[in-house]
Amino acid sequence: MKLIVPTQWICIAILYVITFIVTGNAFAGNPFEGKPLYYKHCYDCHEDSGTNRMLNAPDFKKREGLMATDQQLLAVIKSGKGVMPGYQGILKDKEILDVIAYIRNIF
Ligand code: HEC
Repeated sequence: MKLIVPTQWICIAILYVITFIVTGNAFAGNPFEGKPLYYKHCYDCHEDSGTNRMLNAPDFKKREGLMATDQQLLAVIKSGKGVMPGYQGILKDKEILDVIAYIRNIF
């Protein structure tokens, strides 16, 4: 008997593999979910351009502070860095990944 695999399954599998190759993580955050979280939790310090010279926050437009994998940034944001508070227990891992996706896409 011949095994028949529906074409759409194959398409989904191929898309999944491409997403994984391009982003390095098929479960990367969702920038649309991240936007309101950014304005609520991060905007005061990082502002629209991702810059706040007074606080010495990184300039996301220049890719400062973003030269790391999502998992590395997740760890930094959870534990905090310098003046930046840690978000462990405030935001879920998934929410932090959404915010990271927003920062990566918008600035
Ligand atoms: C109280 C102000 C403040 C808030 C709120 C804040 N940040 Fe920061 N953030 C900073 C400062 C200052 C730095 C630079 C820290 C350093 O290098 O000493 C920084 C650094 C970073 C970096 C670069 C980390 C690195 O490894 O260099 C990322 C990414 C980042 N913040 C994302 C976020 C996100 C996402 C949020 C919201 C969930 C957030 N920040 C909230 C002030 C803040």
